[in-house]
Amino acid sequence: MSEVDVVAGRVLVTGGTGSWGHELCKQLLTHADIDEIIILSRNEHKQVEMQREFDNPKLTFVIGDVRDKESLKKAMYGVDYVFHLAALKHVPVCEQNSWQSVETNIIGTHNVVMCAIDCHVKYVVDVSTDKAVEPHNIYGITKACGEKLITNAQHNYKSNTKFVCIRGGNVMGTNGSVLPLFKKQISQFNKVTVTDPNMTRFLMSTKEAINLIFEAVKIAKGGETFVMRMPAISVEQIAKTMIQKYGNKNTVIDVIGARPAEKMHEVLVSRSEIPRTYELNERYFVIIPEYGEERFSDILKSSKKTELTEFSSHNAPVLTNEVFLKQIEKEDWS
Ligand SMILES: NC(=O)c1ccc[n+]([C@@H]2O[C@H](COP(=O)([O-])OP(=O)(O)OC[C@H]3O[C@@H](n4cnc5c(N)ncnc54)[C@H](OP(=O)(O)O)[C@@H]3O)[C@@H](O)[C@H]2O)c1
Repeated sequence: MSEVDVVAGRVLVTGGTGSWGHELCKQLLTHADIDEIIILSRNEHKQVEMQREFDNPKLTFVIGDVRDKESLKKAMYGVDYVFHLAALKHVPVCEQNSWQSVETNIIGTHNVVMCAIDCHVKYVVDVSTDKAVEPHNIYGITKACGEKLITNAQHNYKSNTKFVCIRGGNVMGTNGSVLPLFKKQISQFNKVTVTDPNMTRFLMSTKEAINLIFEAVKIAKGGETFVMRMPAISVEQIAKTMIQKYGNKNTVIDVIGARPAEKMHEVLVSRSEIPRTYELNERYFVIIPEYGEERFSDILKSSKKTELTEFSSHNAPVLTNEVFLKQIEKEDWS
């Protein structure tokens, strides 16, 4: 069974027109047991573009807003799986529009939970971020609240729905990612602007990001948070590798200083979560919730409690230049 085969029937993807949504739909559509994928988002233009790009009768596009419970519920009737991707995710935008990020990332996630219970959905997977761990900015804070709403839902409500979270690092080439920005800066100005060269970030490919979702569905009992043991890289190394690939001997690195609310290093598993963190295999960690340990007896028996003290981009395996270059070559950021 391939990873994608764990999902079947009718699927709702909130925020399905975004970067993760495109890759998720692409992978889901390779699987014959998918009857329908409903994409809920606000912007009609992005939906029309995606419809033309995919040209697949299994995709249904619904204009809706996760803040609006009614539109969400209508889209969720008869759905087996919900992948909750809709979010405001740009750190500076969220800082400047703090309440808007609360409305989308917190109220929107609460609405997803409530509608999923009412509609008897089998699984809800919430896509979260390393920025939700020990958060320094409102984006991270709202995503941390979203995580809690999802994992607590398993405990707080009597329902058959399984609620799970996955946490990703930076996904290469997604909307707003630094990699397409660097590529553009090199071609337009022959320079890249870096905040702080010593800053480190987790990096994963879109394929790895989607595999993490499927891995979570395959194993989840409900209430867990799944994390990939992904490598990290310094911002300086990202810039140097991008210059090696797209620049020339005159390309310069312009250091502009960290932006407000930015961290030097990101954390995927915090010190306080470590006592509840198990190594499922070489690739994945699972953090079990603070309650109901007995439900996870399979994981407790078959997996090793991690010996790390935290999993941070500072102590993670380093993404080598060679592997990073290969990944850049596979991506299309035009
Ligand atoms: N990209 C990364 O590196 C990364 C890393 C870790 C986690 N994540 C998480 O992964 C998820 C997807 O990220 P992405 O990179 O795919 O983002 P993206 O490309 O910006 O896509 C966001 C999607 O959400 C939709 N959306 C925004 N507000 C909405 C609302 N109120 N109601 C319904 N839909 C709404 C957008 O469409 P409209 O604007 O048309 O509504 C779009 O389809 C997010 O939850 C993000 O926090 C991303």
